[in-house]
Amino acid sequence: MEIAKGVYYVGVRDWDRRIFDALIPLPRGTSYNSYLIIGSDGKTLIDAVNPGFEKELEKNISSVVEPEEIDFIIMNHAEPDHAGAIPYMMEVAPRAKLVTSKIGKKMAQIFYRVPEGRIRVVADNESISLGDKTLHFIEAPMLHWPETMFTYLVEDGILFSCDFFGAHLPGAVYSDEIEDVLVHAKKYWAEIMMPFRSMAKKALEKIAGLDVKVIAPSHGPVYRKPESILNSYKSWASGETRPKVTVVYVSMWGSTESMIKYMVGTLASEGIELAVHNLAVADLGELAKDLVDSRAIVLGSPTFLGGAHPLAVYAAYILKVLRPPIMYAVILSSYGWGGGAVKQIQRMLSGYRIELVGTLEVNGPLTRNDVERITELGKALAEKIQNVRER
Ligand code: FEO
Repeated sequence: MEIAKGVYYVGVRDWDRRIFDALIPLPRGTSYNSYLIIGSDGKTLIDAVNPGFEKELEKNISSVVEPEEIDFIIMNHAEPDHAGAIPYMMEVAPRAKLVTSKIGKKMAQIFYRVPEGRIRVVADNESISLGDKTLHFIEAPMLHWPETMFTYLVEDGILFSCDFFGAHLPGAVYSDEIEDVLVHAKKYWAEIMMPFRSMAKKALEKIAGLDVKVIAPSHGPVYRKPESILNSYKSWASGETRPKVTVVYVSMWGSTESMIKYMVGTLASEGIELAVHNLAVADLGELAKDLVDSRAIVLGSPTFLGGAHPLAVYAAYILKVLRPPIMYAVILSSYGWGGGAVKQIQRMLSGYRIELVGTLEVNGPLTRNDVERITELGKALAEKIQNVRER
């Protein structure tokens, strides 16, 4: 597939993959995108693919050029889903140099045993000429590994951004052919990029001066109209939130669930948007996506052997490591014969910049007094959310 004159999509689609990092659900699978650039004076492969797909990549390349004619293999990122095929490609393209950042060089040597003599390190803003096409390299560290960089094809205005702007969507080459592309891009942002918002902001500032006509990431579709994804990334990177609450809970005998129901009812009647996830059946990708622009979180957990339920511990940990721009929290808990869940969740969230609006721990089924307290807490949370000044 030629996405611009002399620029070919040669990536592979992994329809059957259902989990990433043994953690992230992939309801539609994913793609490992590679691109081939044919310049008048050099042929370049941008990113390789996941282990197991080497032959498919080679076959795709062969439909355009003989793989041994490749001069440069660009490693924008060393993670195996984009670099796993590098050892194979270095063999089938014996004259090719691996082009990567300084930190990337070390990773290529350690992970892929690429000999030093076959690596060309590029600095920030360095370029390589392919004759009628120019590759310009932009360091974009910690998006989401320290070696990550972008490659910009100057003459065609194509930004090869690897994971940045990615989505786990194997279904179409172009984003405008997918109706819910931004939903999936938002999930991807939440799972991979959200912990690095400040670095994302810097990278967006760096590319703001470029004439980006097309964004070609290494997962999911190519954006030939990049405004929508650029604007979304600007909003997500700056931590813009909405009057929205993500509610996550787990309940063993129904008391915590009752507390959540009263809380949700109060927030809804105050006009607050809600995303509710029962942790016993929740999809982590959906939950992470909802955290991207939520202003507050309500965490509900029963007490389980003197602490929070393990699923609530998991949720609190995910919250802390994904670092969404959440500003307020409420913790609700019930217990049968001994409390402790609220204290444990509070401890886990310590050090995270979040205002705890209130907590409530009840013993057994709810009383009228408990319901009143939940309603008051809900109203207090709604007021905070509605009167917030963005950070
Ligand atoms: Fe898609 Fe960080 O690899």
